[in-house]
Amino acid sequence: MIKELAGLKTVCLNETKDAVVILDQTLLPEKEIYVSLFTEQDIWDAIFKLKVRGAPAIGIAAAYGIYICSSKIKTSSFEQFYNEFCRIKVFLSGARPTAVNLVAALDRMERRILLNKEKSVPQIKQELLKEALAIREEDATACRQIGENGLALLRPGMGVLTHCNAGHLAVSEYGTALAPVYLGQERGFGFKVFADETRPLLQGARLTTYELQRAGVDVTLICDNMVSSVMQKGWVQAVLVGCDRIAANGDVANKIGTSGVAVLARYYGIPFYVLGPTSTIDMQCPDGKSIVIEERHPEEVTDMWYNRRMAPEKVKVYNPAFDVTPRELITAIITEKGVW
Ligand code: MRU
Repeated sequence: MIKELAGLKTVCLNETKDAVVILDQTLLPEKEIYVSLFTEQDIWDAIFKLKVRGAPAIGIAAAYGIYICSSKIKTSSFEQFYNEFCRIKVFLSGARPTAVNLVAALDRMERRILLNKEKSVPQIKQELLKEALAIREEDATACRQIGENGLALLRPGMGVLTHCNAGHLAVSEYGTALAPVYLGQERGFGFKVFADETRPLLQGARLTTYELQRAGVDVTLICDNMVSSVMQKGWVQAVLVGCDRIAANGDVANKIGTSGVAVLARYYGIPFYVLGPTSTIDMQCPDGKSIVIEERHPEEVTDMWYNRRMAPEKVKVYNPAFDVTPRELITAIITEKGVW
């Protein structure tokens, strides 16, 4: 755990284990406010509204969330318990479509039930708690190993560019794309990080700079349209990004704008690395064209940031939350198992 970030708890259970507690990321960096989620609607809203976001964090929130909701189901009948679990699972799965981690975590929770269906309902509830905690722990361990595998490809003093937020706030502890940066920081590598602001919701400006600055990393914020300029100046020696779904052929969905950064990296001859846990690989998904891309409300583009309208009323808006980077543009995919 990075000591400067130890106080920031992205997602956890409360002491009485009847609520999921999240740091509301829509309020950062001005306010650090923790919110308790007690119901399936609370959990769905928090994921949909990006109060908790980032592929692995969404998976952990969903696993904790379905445990909380299941623990409140009042029945001793396995059939009734399982039917109600499946209803909640379908509901939570629909909160966001692109990150595979959401459905993968919920599927794991269901498998834990089916493996223990001979047990009593109270015992099954305990199994669900263990599975949710295991998902979180495995994520933290994977992130640290992703950091080691990524750091082996970097050299002290490098300039690295990242898009969106794939750090402590998006996962457990070290993050994915930022894990080599944090490990490098602990080992005196002295990286210089460029963080894209990441329009329209500014995860880079609001979250990545916030956590890197707090950890003492040298970070410079740039607008999305400045990437070419900083690459042209020779300030960037590697690009590190996270991922929401890796298709079987190696195409990668990540935050909108990632594919543009990859095109620029190729043009300037800069390695483009995607970092994520193997749980983000979806072998059922043959290629990038098969990945469902979430489209979000036009207001995120037209109204969100200045408390006033930034575009004419009724203007047509296209607001995809993710894009697909074709595998040809990816130098390597770095997971906890190695470099691919
Ligand atoms: O819409 P968001 O903020 O959930 O998008 C997040 C990203 O695209 C991240 O890069 C991705 O989830 C990886 S997080 C380790």
